[in-house]
Amino acid sequence: MRRVVASAPGKVILFGEHFVVKGCLGIASAINVRVQAEARLTRGEKLRLYSRNLGFRVVLRKDMELEELPEDARPFASILRYLVSQGYNFLGAEIEIRSHLPPGAGLGSSAASAAAFALAYTHLHGDALDKHRLFIASLEAEKIAHGKPSGIDPTISVYGGWIAYRRDKGASRVNARLDAGYRFIVADTGVRRKTGPIVESVLALAEKRWDVLKHVYRAAEEVSEKALRALEIGDYETIADLMNISQGLLNAIGVSSLEIEKLIAIARSSGALGAKLTGAGRGGSIVVLAPSDSSRVTETLKGYSPWVSSVALGDEGSRIDQE
Ligand code: MEV
Repeated sequence: MRRVVASAPGKVILFGEHFVVKGCLGIASAINVRVQAEARLTRGEKLRLYSRNLGFRVVLRKDMELEELPEDARPFASILRYLVSQGYNFLGAEIEIRSHLPPGAGLGSSAASAAAFALAYTHLHGDALDKHRLFIASLEAEKIAHGKPSGIDPTISVYGGWIAYRRDKGASRVNARLDAGYRFIVADTGVRRKTGPIVESVLALAEKRWDVLKHVYRAAEEVSEKALRALEIGDYETIADLMNISQGLLNAIGVSSLEIEKLIAIARSSGALGAKLTGAGRGGSIVVLAPSDSSRVTETLKGYSPWVSSVALGDEGSRIDQE
């Protein structure tokens, strides 16, 4: 029986989440925590899709309507539609999604699952999607998962590395200069939330209060541009300050929360240089910049967060792990 394992990385957005939806510059990196999709060919025309750790099990058929399916399965069904439109047959298969990322935590679990799924399934056909079409397939899934995606999450899960992203221009590579004296830590608040409604509410607030918020959006653009230069020359003092400023701007557009503020305060008081929410906010995760010779930040955060990880940035994009 043919079998393949594909994987795609999670991500952290270091600067510009939400602002990127309205055209500002966003900066993100793939992290070394990945989602795997293991696919096997089976007889018949049914695709059995399940994930123990994301908690779903569905059977997908060629002629199904998205509305018939549980919400978690709809993004995968929209990928299948895209694949059929690209001339792929609907092969019977069993696919397991194994995520090492906490779901709904702002770390790109949905985009990484989509990319790993699409790569594994098309590889079974003997015709794996190239990066560009893999991005389109993953974006289709993101549209179902959260309405008006900027495209930054599927870009990272497909291409990996560090990217600077603008909605109208797409991605360009960032040559981030890493410094062994610093490390990035991710901590989950444990509060699960859906990105779509948060993005919608930010857009609604921006429309209602644009006379004031245009200044916040302009400041976010300035922060991202300065951060890009700081990353390229390895100026971590500036990066830390800009992360803290960025958190203030995210608070202004209403996406922070008590749980996020608490984790950030704990991180900063235990020695973090910079800390902000990452992803859609109102729960999910924070990203922290800390000196690498101190384990105090990680150890302290562990007392308050269900998932704390010191992450390596710039990981590889989607790939075949085993065949
Ligand atoms: C979600 O990871 C990032 C947001 O900016 C939405 C998007 O860009 O699609 C909140």
